[in-house]
Amino acid sequence: MNAPTRVFIAIDIPQPIRDAILANTETMRAALPDSLVRWTADDNLHLTLKFLGDIPLNRVDSVAKSLMRTAAQTTRFALHAKGLGSYPTSKRPRTIWIGVQPPADLVDLQEGLESALMKLGLEGEERPFTPHLTIGRVKQPVSPADQKALSAALEATQVGELGIIEVDSVHLYKSDLRAGGSIYTKLASAPLK
Ligand code: 2AM
Repeated sequence: MNAPTRVFIAIDIPQPIRDAILANTETMRAALPDSLVRWTADDNLHLTLKFLGDIPLNRVDSVAKSLMRTAAQTTRFALHAKGLGSYPTSKRPRTIWIGVQPPADLVDLQEGLESALMKLGLEGEERPFTPHLTIGRVKQPVSPADQKALSAALEATQVGELGIIEVDSVHLYKSDLRAGGSIYTKLASAPLK
């Protein structure tokens, strides 16, 4: 069978950084109920480089090989996790995230992946790359009172430098959408140079 398989490419976040994110956002989480925000499970936290969406199962292998080749040409690098933000605006947040300072190496890797995957005939990304760690997604619709509570909680939360992420590999993940939250399964790991 050649079932559609939902896949994406991401960088894993080390436990000390995940712990720092939890500690720095604890008060905000407590102020915002689960009925309003779906918080990302600790294990699911990652930095997405490329979301491929549904691809036929028989193409997964060529995507993994392409990822291996691109990663092998990229030197290891470090990222800083810093700051809290939301998309599209802090007045009407839908995605709540921790920021990532994008060094040139990260942008090169993302662009390298983009062009390697386009050569395989996969769709290119039209939106600019804005590296971030999604920590929560706001459930819709949002009442005016909840909108206020959200903005207030975001504004009251200051998140400084959380630490360094040493990136030495990138991963291909399968995503299964479930009612209780997405389940991510690692399909391949590609070491950097
Ligand atoms: P996000 O952090 O910006 O939400 C797996 O779904 C990952 O792929 C998510 O972390 C999500 O990143 C990313 N992604 C990017 N575009 C997506 C889309 N159109 N639909 C679902 N996930 C997407």
